[in-house]
Amino acid sequence: MTIQHSYQCLVLLSALCAACLMGCATDNPAGTAADLPGARGQITRRAFGKTKEGTPVDLFTLRNTKGAEARICNYGGLVISLKVPDRNGKFGDVVLGYDMLDGYLKSSPYFGAIIGRYGNRIAKGKFTLNGKEYTLAINNGPNALHGGIKGFDKVVWTPKILATPDGPALELRYLSKDAEEGFPGNLSVIAVYTLTEDNGLKLDYTATTDKDTVVNLTQHSYFNLAGKGDNLHHEVMIKADKFTPVDSTLIPTGELRPVEGTPFDFRKSTAIGARINQDDEQLKFGKGYDHNWVINKPAGKLGIMARVYEPTSGRVLEVLSTEPGLQFYTGNFLDGTITGKGGWVYQFRNAFCMEPQHYPDSPNHPNFPSVVLKPGQVYKHTLIYRFSVQP
Ligand code: GLA
Repeated sequence: MTIQHSYQCLVLLSALCAACLMGCATDNPAGTAADLPGARGQITRRAFGKTKEGTPVDLFTLRNTKGAEARICNYGGLVISLKVPDRNGKFGDVVLGYDMLDGYLKSSPYFGAIIGRYGNRIAKGKFTLNGKEYTLAINNGPNALHGGIKGFDKVVWTPKILATPDGPALELRYLSKDAEEGFPGNLSVIAVYTLTEDNGLKLDYTATTDKDTVVNLTQHSYFNLAGKGDNLHHEVMIKADKFTPVDSTLIPTGELRPVEGTPFDFRKSTAIGARINQDDEQLKFGKGYDHNWVINKPAGKLGIMARVYEPTSGRVLEVLSTEPGLQFYTGNFLDGTITGKGGWVYQFRNAFCMEPQHYPDSPNHPNFPSVVLKPGQVYKHTLIYRFSVQP
């Protein structure tokens, strides 16, 4: 072997080693947001696995300077874990999910996911827009749920690490093609997660289309602020005088019903378990709470929708959004068949979801705020899950 040959071998060997190191590395610090001028916090990136089709997926770890940490994956925009302090400053994970990508690929009740193109149900999977009827897949009883068979929770988003003065941020982009899951128009979506300095996980959505379409994007994290047990002792306040009652298949009847005098009155903070088992037709239809509240706040304005307090940990979650409605779901379909992170078997009502959005089945209810997006318009939605503690 000549000197030149051995030099070439050495170069090849070091290139291979470097590639292996990058590929096998746990938290690869490339793209550390703290290195960029004006930016705060940190993001690291590492391989998280591959989809069934073989597309590689990464896991991004966002940390603010207060020590809070969010792990987000560019498959489904999933929030894999979210660690925030309790009243003693002890950090704990407050969302349900799986340890590995595999769990999410096999079967997931939308743990931590971005939901689209249409969050929640569309009756019988049909709606009419500009006189044309569109048909969607039926994937929930007689209805369409959460964007279809392969909604935004099951696609690979194109990730980009952003440096922002608000905190480390992850931009995710997805182009939902015309006729995908039956919806009209090429919809170009940008979702930016930011972990803010005041322990908020912020999600900014923008979307544009080239044909009239319907859009309703939300987030489907399952929270348990104690990090264990059921959700019944969490105390919930929802800023709403009205909610949208449903039929037995969870489609709104169209009525905006006052919460006054019903188990749906959360204007004063009340434990989830206080009334959830009452003999009430709406609670029976949902097997608990699985309804949309009509939030008291001007449309399009970012404001508080709900506040949840968990007495043993002292953790508080505030939900803010620009949307008109909030789907509050109490994990009534969890039934002990899923073993999640750290071996926790997720039982009935072990978590709750707070999904800011337009009302379910809006395309079929002209009296509900419109979900139509036209070419030239920009869909915008900001939501924040903000954490703090109460003594
Ligand atoms: C939403 C729905 C629920 C349920 C969950 C996912 O919250 O309203 O009925 O489908 O998603 O299991």
